[in-house]
Amino acid sequence: MITLKSEREINLMHEAGKLLASCHKEIAKMIKPGITTMQIDKFVEEYLAKHGATPEQKGYKGYQYATCASLNDEICHGFPTNKPLKDGDIVTIDMVVNLNGGLADSAWTHTVGDISDEAQRLVDVTYEALLKGIEQAQPGNRTGDIGHAIQSYVEGEKFSVVRDFTGHGIGNTMHEAPTILHYGKAGKGTRLKEGMVITIEPFLSTGAEYTVESSDGWTLCVPDNSLCAQYEHTIIITRDQPIITTIA
Ligand code: MF3
Ligand code: CO
Repeated sequence: MITLKSEREINLMHEAGKLLASCHKEIAKMIKPGITTMQIDKFVEEYLAKHGATPEQKGYKGYQYATCASLNDEICHGFPTNKPLKDGDIVTIDMVVNLNGGLADSAWTHTVGDISDEAQRLVDVTYEALLKGIEQAQPGNRTGDIGHAIQSYVEGEKFSVVRDFTGHGIGNTMHEAPTILHYGKAGKGTRLKEGMVITIEPFLSTGAEYTVESSDGWTLCVPDNSLCAQYEHTIIITRDQPIITTIA
């Protein structure tokens, strides 16, 4: 079921989004060769607690951490680890914040030290793809308009949209209807309405469009060792421009 949010709910979700954005900004300052994603995860737990918020992913379907930390060929749901990040890595940190019952979901991909031109271009194209999707998040448009805008841009840049993961509605729980594909046909899919809150979160790779699950039962990787990046924002659909909750 698709829920339309009240003004009160939207305000709570917006507050959660601002806090999440500020947390991502702090993480960006911490990223350098030598730091571990477990240190980042611990930082997030403390940062959220200090601001009266909780990490919604922890405990979700048995997931143990505040963040997902997905490295290089890992597309999503990677565990934080004690392995130091090194020059040339790219790492996606994804989290869901619960502040007074309002939820926000956002992922950023960070580059570590000196990285290849291809990796930098992948990260830049991923963020731009997210913005192209957000532009389409207008009442009257359909979910396919978002997917089409993202896919046509990404494929024009000669990267791949990874098909196995989607954006989603978000509200009292992390995942609600509708599903937001990051590929598809303009004019198809669910019609968007004022008051809907959705995530848009394109997953890109330099190669494969499909993923395989690791033996840990969570981490998803591309099978061809290509690099993966993802950016995600939580968006409120309004009569005017879409509001990105997850920017500071
Ligand atoms: N934040 C993710 C999303 O974008 C969900 C994470 S799955 C979890 O939908 F199990 F790690 F919580
Ligand atoms: Co997320």
